[in-house]
Amino acid sequence: MIKFSVTSGHLELYPNSCIITGIFEELNLFPSTKKIDDISKGYISSLLRRGALHGKVTQTLLLYDVPHLHNRQILLVGCGKQSDFDENCYRKLIRKITILCKEIPIIRILLFLSELNIKGYDNYWKIRQTMEIVNEELYVFNKFKNNITTLNQSLNEIVLHIPNENELGDCKKSIRDGLSIVHGIKIAKDLGNMPPNFCTPDYLVNQVNKLSNCDNVTINIINALEMKQLGMNAYLAVGKGSNYAPTMPIIKYRGNPKGSNVPPIVLIGKGLTFDSGGISIKESNKMDEMKYDMCGAAAVYAIMRIAIELNLPLNIIGILAVCENMISHTSFRPGDILTTLSGKTVEVLNTDAEGRLVLCDALTYAERYKPDVVIDIATLTGACVIALGHHFSGLMSNNKNLADELILAGQQSKDYVWKLPLDEVFQKQLKSTCADMTNVGGRSGGAITAGCFLQQFAYKYRWAHLDIAGTAWISDYCDKSATGRPVALLSQYLINRSSY
Ligand code: BES
Ligand code: MN
Ligand code: ZN
Repeated sequence: MIKFSVTSGHLELYPNSCIITGIFEELNLFPSTKKIDDISKGYISSLLRRGALHGKVTQTLLLYDVPHLHNRQILLVGCGKQSDFDENCYRKLIRKITILCKEIPIIRILLFLSELNIKGYDNYWKIRQTMEIVNEELYVFNKFKNNITTLNQSLNEIVLHIPNENELGDCKKSIRDGLSIVHGIKIAKDLGNMPPNFCTPDYLVNQVNKLSNCDNVTINIINALEMKQLGMNAYLAVGKGSNYAPTMPIIKYRGNPKGSNVPPIVLIGKGLTFDSGGISIKESNKMDEMKYDMCGAAAVYAIMRIAIELNLPLNIIGILAVCENMISHTSFRPGDILTTLSGKTVEVLNTDAEGRLVLCDALTYAERYKPDVVIDIATLTGACVIALGHHFSGLMSNNKNLADELILAGQQSKDYVWKLPLDEVFQKQLKSTCADMTNVGGRSGGAITAGCFLQQFAYKYRWAHLDIAGTAWISDYCDKSATGRPVALLSQYLINRSSY
């Protein structure tokens, strides 16, 4: 992992570093660029006069042996028009710099981009974003490769320069939060990328058990036998065709200084370690991607680790709804009627709409905690990918306030959500001829009818549902990977919740 720190020190103190600083299109020099220009007796301005750099966003110029300067390299980056500069330009610059570092031997960076003012975004934000983007760009998953194509990535440290010494304290907090969050994101990605013959339900339980020695944490694994005794028949039905028994690991973290009676925030993650579709089998094209059907659970696990590490002053319960949807003579079938933990009955019309069957019982289970809010996170519907693509997670909620808080956290973290209407007009699509409801609502509004289904089991508390089917992984022709979303979003939500 790359080391991150902040400093107010002079650039002379960083001889082995690459100094990174900016130029606007108007060719205004940043304070630090001006300083380098002065030390080098006008070398930078002479380069600019000769048109070596125009300052367009993400244009770069790498310099060695700048006269009178003792730093290893100088990287000048174009920042566009000063008046147009915004948070998205900042994000682009950091991404560009990171990609460049994969190609040229830059070992340490002293980054002066915090000199850029972005309206509405402070240094805390800039530091966190820098850390997240750098780690995102450098992420590789090569646990199963014998011949690792060695990138000549030499970068191992980034020092962010903060001009104002008084801000260093806040900035150090940002580094601390950032480290936990990027580590959490990596954990979520690794889990998502693990193949389904390794990342089995037992494997996820083992990961959860690793947290049992942490302060203020208790682990409780609800096994299939307990589920049976409780009456979680919808959940159990989904796992019937698998060799692995369904299991529901629960991580309880009590960090609220007002005590363990303060109503908790409950996070529930869909954890299908593989979703074949069951008897309503999926087509084989891209079926391998259904190893990612546990990304909701991976996110919950990662977020719990972050909350524990940051010692957030909140009570949080993470529930991983884990099982595998397979095909066998023991599988549940289309036509089956299941009695859920809530007592409501569900007619199964499609065994591939399994996520909601697992989640509905987990949602009812969560009632026992008298929660403040419940948020479920699930790769729930292909329809959500069609509706929102890969940039926005679908958000549905029975509470406007909670939805607004999540939208805000999405904007802050750049891990965006978009709200879909959970109007009651959709409920009739779930009408069943012989049970209380069906488990599918037809093709139209598929992401929403899935949300409506869950809503039936979440009426006792404030609840939000995040459909991450389009955002939890990216898949190109031969390049696919988990993204770690929405770990950044929900960490931000929890951090926001910590300060009131
Ligand atoms: N895990 C899938 C949803 C999914 C599909 C995620 C594609 C990412 C990409 C879920 O269990 C599923 O199969 N949903 C069905 C529901 C349908 C049968 C109502 C779907 O979206 O096709
Ligand atoms: Mn499915
Ligand atoms: Zn699924």
